Formats: sequence, C-alpha cells, structure tokens
Amino acid sequence: MRLDVLFSPVQADELFFTGKTTVVIDVLRASSTIITALTNGAKEIVPVGTVEFAVKVSGGIFGGQTLLGGERNTKKIEGFALGNSPSEYTNEIVNGKSIVFYSTNGSRAIVKAKYSANLFICSFNNMESLARHIKSLNEDVVILCSGNNNFFSLEDSVCAGMLVCELIDESKKVELTDASKSALALFKSFGKNILKLLRETDHGQILVTNGFEDDLKACAEIDSTDVIPFYSGNALKVLK
Ligand code: MLT
Repeated sequence: MRLDVLFSPVQADELFFTGKTTVVIDVLRASSTIITALTNGAKEIVPVGTVEFAVKVSGGIFGGQTLLGGERNTKKIEGFALGNSPSEYTNEIVNGKSIVFYSTNGSRAIVKAKYSANLFICSFNNMESLARHIKSLNEDVVILCSGNNNFFSLEDSVCAGMLVCELIDESKKVELTDASKSALALFKSFGKNILKLLRETDHGQILVTNGFEDDLKACAEIDSTDVIPFYSGNALKVLK
C-alpha cells in the first residue's frame, strides 16, 4: 500500500483522481460537519462546487426533503437553512434529509476528487473507523487536504499525518511518499493536543473571532463516531 498526501487541491486536476482511492480532509469544518450530519441520520450530503449550483439542485430533484447547508467566509449563506457548524446538524433537523452542501474549501475538494474509484471523508471524529476500513481495502491511497483557499492548512495536514500513522502496519509493506512522511512528522510534532492545535491555526483563529469557538471542540473530538462518508452517485452516504 502506497500512501500519498496532497497538501492542497491545487496540486492536482480532476482527472488525477480517476480510479484512485481518495480520502478528503477538511477538519475546520466541512469534513467534521459532513460526518456529524450523517452520524445524526442525514440521508445523504450532496457536495457542490458553487453556491449557484447548490440553489439550482435544491430547488429541483429532492423536493421537500432537502436542506441547503454550508458557508461562505465561515458564515451561513443567505437563503440556506444551515451553516457549517457541526452542532447545527442535529438528529431533529437532518434525520432522513438530503443536504445540498457548499463550503469554500471542503465541498470543492470533494467535487474535484469525484472521479475517484473510492472517495471517503475523514476528520479526527472518524479516524479509527476510517483507518480500519482503508486497511481492509489494502489499496494505494491519496489523502487530499482541502487546505485554505488553495494554500496549506496545518489542521488538515496534521489530520492527514494521523491517518498515515494509523495506517502504518508492521505486518504489511506500507510505502510513504515524501509528502506522507512530512504529514506524519507534522502529526508527531503538533498532534498531541488537537484542540490546542486547532485554536492556534490560522483558520481556527478566524473561527474563534467569528464566534465559532465551540465548533473547534466538536472538530477536535477523536473517534466520536464510526461513520464513514462514502461518495456514490453524486452524494455522500454512510458506508455500510
Ligand atoms: C471550508 O470548506 O472552507 C470550511 O469548512 C470553512 C469553514 O466553514 O470553516
């Protein structure tokens, strides 16, 4: 098994992902929110690349069982039912619903990787469960960090490094690229206290300033769920 890490979606185009097993990470906050929504009973999350497309899709095929969710500049988008705080995606609100989801980095990274043969979503919340599943597949893996407006993001890179660490298995040959070795080193250096890390990152500080400090606590929880979002037919669903 060969593990590679892309520190930003700008490092590859859509076709790069064709046929690959890809794991998308956006710790703050898209992947944490998507995992929470599916854990709380959402039927599916439909990630989209633009706000305009989100509005178009939600008005059509999904009828009354659809909610629009996501953010622009960390804030809920006008006309959307939900923002991008994991705490908004409660069972009462999302159970049985299709959620059309746009976010600045996370949903766009997922859309970019849509040609993957296997596409999973990871955050600290579902780390152990996802790592166990990836090990069982025994495929080469590309870990795609959503980053920050195409730039590096420390929280996604440390989460990628934690996944690399979980996937290293003494009994199997695991090949690490320069990028996955670097992510592993970042995890070993910054991954001891995830909440502290999130508070110190560029995007974490913006979220605190904008009143979303509680979201950092939710996003910092390790293994709070075993739900693995899996992309199939244009939507993310719970892997059975
Ligand atoms: C994103 O996808 O850019 C993020 O989830 C932004 C955020 O809402 O914190």
